[in-house]
Amino acid sequence: MRIRFRENGPYVVEPPPGAKVRFNGEELPLPKGNLALCRCGASQKKPFCDGSHKALGFQAEAGEMRAER
Ligand code: FES
Repeated sequence: MRIRFRENGPYVVEPPPGAKVRFNGEELPLPKGNLALCRCGASQKKPFCDGSHKALGFQAEAGEMRAER
């Protein structure tokens, strides 16, 4: 699974088929396409990014990592 870090923004994950998201013990419905996960801590829709990082002026470097089983 590839996880990208957008410059000054969220983690972006390409979920593998059948992937599930659990947050605080609750399974969440997956939005279609890639997942944008909050890394600034300001989202009101955690764990997903809601764009709040822009108003916050969040700064972080871009990057990428791969996770394998
Ligand atoms: S990274 Fe977008 S709201 Fe936190």
